[in-house]
Amino acid sequence: MSMYLALLGAPGSGKGTQTELLSTELSGLFKFSTGDIIRSEIRNNTDLGQAVSSFLTQGKLVPDEVIIKLFEKTITDDVLLSGIVSDGFPRTKNQALSFLKKFSNQKYPLIVLSFDIELDQLMNRLLGRRICSSCNAVYHTLTKPPKVENICNSCGGSLIVRADDNYESIKVRFNEYQNEIQPIKDVLAPYIVSVDASRDTLDVLNSVKSVLSPYFKSA
Ligand code: AP5
Repeated sequence: MSMYLALLGAPGSGKGTQTELLSTELSGLFKFSTGDIIRSEIRNNTDLGQAVSSFLTQGKLVPDEVIIKLFEKTITDDVLLSGIVSDGFPRTKNQALSFLKKFSNQKYPLIVLSFDIELDQLMNRLLGRRICSSCNAVYHTLTKPPKVENICNSCGGSLIVRADDNYESIKVRFNEYQNEIQPIKDVLAPYIVSVDASRDTLDVLNSVKSVLSPYFKSA
């Protein structure tokens, strides 16, 4: 059994962390992380990267026409067959409609996890976050420090602060999230399962596992 899975949640609610912790269980699924794709395009200075860089740095959403085109191009018949874990898409009502059209009435169940947490808990998570410049692994200076300062445990890459993990951009990202989330939830309501994302990482992981375990692919 597989699934079409989307993680919804405010910046810093733990979507990337939980996806990484579940990497074994979700290994058969195609991983679609719009944030990671965009940061890679920016690093490689592609046309797409140049076009969207300023949106990301300021914390604004990249326009729907760019993101929905990326989604449509990426979700091939092979992806429909493998299943998907989507971290960071959908982020607007139009994206939610595209997501629903693509994955409802398909081969596998559609599940939308909503990571619920008050925004005032998230600023410290985001200001302390470090990511690996090479493999995108996520750390935190206090709650998840690397074994060697500023070096990734997994691949030895150097850890950096994301361009949008500063106070001003975080405020903009919170506003974008608050403006967009309810219409997304309205579109995807029948598929949403809420998870209390305010607890520590392993408690959140256990909740996510208990929701998803019926759908995990057997090895
Ligand atoms: P994106 O990369 O998707 O960022 P985001 O949604 O803002 O989410 P984050 O990556 O900041 O947070 P997260 O929930 O993954 O938290 P994490 O697990 O890292 O998007 C970035 C930008 O790209 C957007 O602003 C936009 O410009 C553009 N973009 C992307 N997708 C788009 C789309 N679909 N449409 C338009 N534009 C788009 O955790 C954060 C920190 O907290 C870490 O340090 C972690 O160690 C720590 N932590 C995690 N869980 C816990 C816990 N339970 N307790 C304590 N600490 C924790």
